[in-house]
Amino acid sequence: MDDAKLLIDLHKQGSRQGPGRDAETEQALNLAMVDRTAPLRVADIGCGTGASAVLLARLLNAHITAVDLFQDFLDVLKERAESSGVSDRISAHACSMEHLPFAAEEFDIIWSEGAIYNIGFTQGVAEWQRFLKAGGLLVVSEITWLTDSRPAELQQHWDGEYSEVDVASAKIRILEKSGYSPVGYFVLPEQCWLEEYYQPMQSRFEGFLHRNGNSEEARRILSAEQREIALYEKYKAYIGYGVYVARKTQ
Ligand SMILES: C[S@@+](CC[C@H](N)C(=O)[O-])C[C@H]1O[C@@H](n2cnc3c(N)ncnc32)[C@H](O)[C@@H]1O
Repeated sequence: MDDAKLLIDLHKQGSRQGPGRDAETEQALNLAMVDRTAPLRVADIGCGTGASAVLLARLLNAHITAVDLFQDFLDVLKERAESSGVSDRISAHACSMEHLPFAAEEFDIIWSEGAIYNIGFTQGVAEWQRFLKAGGLLVVSEITWLTDSRPAELQQHWDGEYSEVDVASAKIRILEKSGYSPVGYFVLPEQCWLEEYYQPMQSRFEGFLHRNGNSEEARRILSAEQREIALYEKYKAYIGYGVYVARKTQ
């Protein structure tokens, strides 16, 4: 089985595929001062199995266009939307965030939790800007250095994983240069990593290995996850997820 299929198998039973929590999704809505009664069109890019898409559909008077590369995740999202009674407010599209089939100025809000690294923050915020109406909001979470310097072991790991990890001031500068006016930023608390993401994933490790015949590829994937978890636990004072809220200016 290839790595993508194994990763889908590991993650599709999770309510989230990255750090986050309902309370912080709502905190971002509050920071953005979104009018919950106004009819809105929202895109959730890299939505995974739908934690934020379903919550946004419940909290807003909005239609959510949920996009992910993997149909398996969207199938779970559809089941969750149905059981939450919001399936008429969400449409799911399997496509790449690099080739979004949207019209210019189609959305009031573009939302993306823990996913923009797949295209890269700089490219993502620049390309997605045209899909927002003038004055529309971008809400995006992105892995972020919490301090100006950090231990070499941590720096080396993330340099190898994602070349755009940077401090919040650098991310905010990119937003300014890409036609947005920053509204605010906050850091996800550690519970969003440990209790909402890593611990539920760890509880799926045994079943994952069993389903996949304890294969070398499956064990390699778990050891990479375990290394990331150990590094987070050791160095969580230096690395976090920033949630960035910005308004389109042009
Ligand atoms: C870390 S997960 C976050 C998922 C979800 N937003 C959450 O917070 O639970 C990243 C998501 O991006 C999706 N993804 C990866 N590459 C993508 C691409 N090129 N286009 C669209 N989605 C992509 C993955 O399938 C995955 O669901």
